Amino acid sequence: MTGISTNLIHAADGQSRVTDVVTPINVATTYKYNDENLTKLADLDLSTDYFRTPVYSRLSHPNSEQVEELIGSITDAHAIAYSSGLGAIFAAFTHLNPSKVAIGKGYHGTHGIADLFTRIKGLTQISINDDLNQLGKDDVIFLETPVNPDGEVFDIQYYADIAHSKGAKLVIDSTFAPPPLSDPFKFGADLVVHSATKFFGGHSDLLAGILLTKDPKAKFELVSDRVYLGTNIANLESFLLIRSLRTYELRILQQSRNATEIVEFLSKNREKYPNITKITHGSLQTEEFVKKQQPNGHSPVFAIELDSEENAKAFPSKLKYFHHATSLGGVESLIEWRAMSDSSCSPKLLRVSVGIENVKDLIADFQQALDTL
Ligand SMILES: Cc1ncc(COP(=O)(O)O)c(C=O)c1O
Repeated sequence: MTGISTNLIHAADGQSRVTDVVTPINVATTYKYNDENLTKLADLDLSTDYFRTPVYSRLSHPNSEQVEELIGSITDAHAIAYSSGLGAIFAAFTHLNPSKVAIGKGYHGTHGIADLFTRIKGLTQISINDDLNQLGKDDVIFLETPVNPDGEVFDIQYYADIAHSKGAKLVIDSTFAPPPLSDPFKFGADLVVHSATKFFGGHSDLLAGILLTKDPKAKFELVSDRVYLGTNIANLESFLLIRSLRTYELRILQQSRNATEIVEFLSKNREKYPNITKITHGSLQTEEFVKKQQPNGHSPVFAIELDSEENAKAFPSKLKYFHHATSLGGVESLIEWRAMSDSSCSPKLLRVSVGIENVKDLIADFQQALDTL
């Protein structure tokens, strides 16, 4: 199979409507009809024609189609692009329309969406730690792995087997371990979601989401729903994302290596840094499934807990190369006292998103900051 960078640079070459080497931004919201062939929308074969010829950018537009082609090419799946990660998750809930969802810990925004569905249509929510025999046909297990904020890896195959034995579906939020770090479809995921704002975007300058499905019918239904949800990815964001994808493989691999080295340094020096009471990262997990599920590296995100809330709050300001900010996945390293944006999380927890800086500088920065505690 062609490599990731080759695909991300060339897979959409055939879709370019101009000779420019760099895809231009198509800012148009509406496109001229072909007066020689005026077929009513109602008479088109929607599964093939409707979205191929640009009509109106809420439906699709040349840049969004290129994003979908590129990400589809590296995941061996059909990609549907959205205006944010939460836009993609909302679309997944709308499409699957479960009566019951089993949901694990994870990004608070996803729980916010589940709460909206509880309000709108009485969706029942249970935890993935509850008895999953309660799930029935067309219900959903929604699993984030590795999980936000602490980076713990969960066993996808285990949850896929339970979901499928009940006729339910498994949705994996794979934002923290995008390709080639993991491929949730290999372990039984039915739908995969990414906040493309994070690693695919990689420059903290765009908001986007991706849903992936192996089923062409589901792709068509999702694209059709998106017309009315009004959540297609915007033109400029698509352009930025196409730009970003050209360097994606280099970035994700470097970020993953950097994070793993920093985690290794911190865990080897626990005695020297007693203020650190906990470190969580896939590289520290010993379960067999972790190696199988993430054969090409661990998430660039990890978490540490310090001995007091006061220290956790103060620590980010002592670092030189880690901005104190929310979000993750960019080329610049970030750290967040996570209680700032997630009230359910321990006030002693710091979430670290590692960028592409020289890892020696990042480790030295951690060392000097820990020495000041
Ligand atoms: C795991 C995870 N999923 C989804 C989202 C939502 O993505 P977005 O901010 O692009 O809507 C986030 C955002 O931080 C996230 O961390």
